[in-house]
Amino acid sequence: MVYKVDQAEELEGKYRMFFENMGEGVCILNENMAIISVNDKLCETSGYSRDELLGKEVTSFFEGANKKIIEKEFKKRTKGKTSHYTVAAKTKEGKELFFSVCSVPLFDKEGKFDGAVAVISDITKTKKAEEKLKEHTIELEKEVEERTEQLVDLYGGVAVTEERNRLAQEIHDGLAQTLASSLLKIDFCERLLDDNPKKVKKELLALRKILAKGIKATRHVIFDLRLPKFHRTGFVTVLRKYLEEFRRKTGIAATLNLKVEESLPMKIQVGTYRIIREAMNNIRKHAKAKNVDLRLRTDKNRNLRLIVKDDGKGFDLNRALTQSKYAKNFGLTGMEEQTKLLGGIFTVKTEKGQGTKIEVKVPIEE
Ligand SMILES: Nc1ncnc2c1ncn2[C@@H]1O[C@H](COP(=O)(O)OP(=O)(O)O)[C@@H](O)[C@H]1O
Ligand SMILES: [Mg+2]
Repeated sequence: MVYKVDQAEELEGKYRMFFENMGEGVCILNENMAIISVNDKLCETSGYSRDELLGKEVTSFFEGANKKIIEKEFKKRTKGKTSHYTVAAKTKEGKELFFSVCSVPLFDKEGKFDGAVAVISDITKTKKAEEKLKEHTIELEKEVEERTEQLVDLYGGVAVTEERNRLAQEIHDGLAQTLASSLLKIDFCERLLDDNPKKVKKELLALRKILAKGIKATRHVIFDLRLPKFHRTGFVTVLRKYLEEFRRKTGIAATLNLKVEESLPMKIQVGTYRIIREAMNNIRKHAKAKNVDLRLRTDKNRNLRLIVKDDGKGFDLNRALTQSKYAKNFGLTGMEEQTKLLGGIFTVKTEKGQGTKIEVKVPIEE
């Protein structure tokens, strides 16, 4: 498409009105990339006065890769092409802003290239929200990777699939959905930017709320993903902290009775911790218990003995086991598998209405 800027006075007046009232920044360049006209909105956004902008080469307001973008885009204009792109620039005060630019070439009466006009929207807020989302996704992926590595190291690949499936489920439920709806909102905002900035502001507020929720969910999953640093913190402290956190989060009274040495083999510390965590997660999710009693001691035959007892609603063990064969989760089967990996014995005693007691006995080999 070829646009002609007529110099006639009346047209000039109409352009001027459109120029000043459209609510977005507008800038006209001559054939040498010098700024020959800007509207108030662009002065306001950039922090530069009209005098500071007029006559300058447009690239002088950009740095590095962004300058390259502007040069490349202008070349397209000289070939008669219109385009839509994103670029970053600093305001006069040095604040970095992101812009969505729509630019079209201009031609004189003879059809000779005569410069370009650009409509410039400030999309900094949307961009920042997008970046935050990206950071979180990366952080999460890193955690999953680290966690998988830890598991491969510890168990030579056993139990990794189940663990991964469980994580995938948790991430899907808690996070992917939040991220997806945020992305939709961002797209929506981008489309609204031109003609309804007020609504965009409202949408951004809603987006902020969604993101805050997503961040909370991320923290929760990461807390669950992370294996504590047993080396640094010590087994007993790790368990104390875990129980404290459990009480705080669930309001369930949980007592801890520990008679173990700190120097248990690392494999046993990690394995036992995972069993405890799953047992406690089950209590939190299913038991409706008021009290939990967790006991961990070494007996005189050098066995580690764990008991997790709750006064919740109990359940039909056979049914849960046949069902969990098909459910891809860590769960009861996972706890049993974990115990077996440590060469131990896993038992569950439960009955409907009678609470649940999980017992683990593991030999401590030096
Ligand atoms: N402490 C408990 N109190 C009551 N029900 C439990 C408890 N532990 C497990 N269950 C029941 O056993 C089922 C299987 O548990 P599990 O294998 O951990 O899978 P999930 O927790 O993913 O449902 C649970 O769905 C629940 O019905
Ligand atoms: Mg479970």
